[in-house]
Amino acid sequence: MLASRKPVNGKQKPVLVITGTRPEIIKMAPIIRALKAEGLPYIFVHCGQHYDYNMAQQFIENLELAKPGYWLKIESTSSGAQTAEIMMKMDELLGKVEPSVVLVEGDTNSVLSAALAANKRVVPLGHVEAGLRSYDLRMPEEHNRRLTDHISQFLFAPTQHAVVNLKAENVWGKVFLTGNTSIDAVKEHLPIAERSSRVMEQVPFEEYALVTAHRAENVDDPTVLGSFLEVFERSPLPLVYPMHPRTLRRLAENGLIGKVEGMKNVHVLPPTGYLDFLVLMRNCKLIITDSGGVQEEATAPAIRKRVLVIRLSTERQEAVEAGFATVVGTDSRWILSAMNEALNAEKVLPAESPFGDGSAAQRTVAVIKESFV
Ligand code: UD1
Ligand code: UDP
Repeated sequence: MLASRKPVNGKQKPVLVITGTRPEIIKMAPIIRALKAEGLPYIFVHCGQHYDYNMAQQFIENLELAKPGYWLKIESTSSGAQTAEIMMKMDELLGKVEPSVVLVEGDTNSVLSAALAANKRVVPLGHVEAGLRSYDLRMPEEHNRRLTDHISQFLFAPTQHAVVNLKAENVWGKVFLTGNTSIDAVKEHLPIAERSSRVMEQVPFEEYALVTAHRAENVDDPTVLGSFLEVFERSPLPLVYPMHPRTLRRLAENGLIGKVEGMKNVHVLPPTGYLDFLVLMRNCKLIITDSGGVQEEATAPAIRKRVLVIRLSTERQEAVEAGFATVVGTDSRWILSAMNEALNAEKVLPAESPFGDGSAAQRTVAVIKESFV
């Protein structure tokens, strides 16, 4: 089922690097750079699931990537129609560009759509960040990543734990332990961020906790959304909160925007660029989040922060086992009590990240090179 190693019309077939959302752009950037460094032909495709400047193009600029070769325009708004539309447009594109392999990263609808499109065109598929499991079937991401893992020929597992998950499920593809490219990206961009970001000039507090929240099972549930607002009101530390567009929309629908804007201890920002976010993480006392990528970045040696995971589960158990993360649930009392505990604890965090040493992209591209060139 491997693609031909032979060049087509004297030309090497390109690797298709797919992104759809903000975290995929960030985590694919090191892979794009490694492909370039190896002189391998590639085409960068953005599926357009995230489309606002500050959810997509801003990251392409921050990470100094060239403009995507293709940027799909997606009209659908429901999750199912969005998945189907991306799949149809990817199918058309695959017919046109004939790649050697399609690379997807993570667990979004774009990932599943591109994976299915590759599978139907019988193009080899590589899943970056394979093998994560939250065992929380309320999450669309848990379905997307499981399905993608089972139709991938190459599974790039970030940790040994992910390798074990994949082996336990008897996936068909080959599994490679690589580390997570999120750590590569922090290593490369934090020094740049510290030189160029001006974001701290906007932060009106000496000390703060950094908050993000966007998971559908959290912010689409008015009870959980209300619980988060209670945490904001009673927080023992001021909060800096770059707000995801999904959350902004849900607050607006519930008539709660004014309430958040009125909280003097909460500094709300639009979704920040990657460099600004790195600096916000670097300078905060504590991170409170339901993000996946942020749980990893908090363990990067140059950041090393405690993270309270405002969810019922995590697929990043490694961060919990290493002492960085604590899954605190979504009830305001649990979150507030965990904040007080974390702020008073004198915990020494490990010097190394459980998500790798920052060379995940090189390892991934070495496998691609070995298999397709
Ligand atoms: C998606 C992923 C999630 C990932 C997150 C990263 C799925 C099922 N979810 O969630 O796994 O953690 O991206 O941030 O794929 N919106 C805008 N502008 C944009 C993008 C979105 O306004 O550029 C708003 C729209 O109202 C949209 C809503 O956000 O309906 C949700 O966007 P969507 O991409 O469906 O899901 P995310 O919550 O962003
Ligand atoms: N991030 C950012 N600006 C923000 C919030 C997050 O640059 O305002 C970055 C963060 O550093 C991480 C990624 O976006 O790399 C996480 O994205 P998100 O939380 O949306 O998705 P998830 O990782 O949960 O899929």
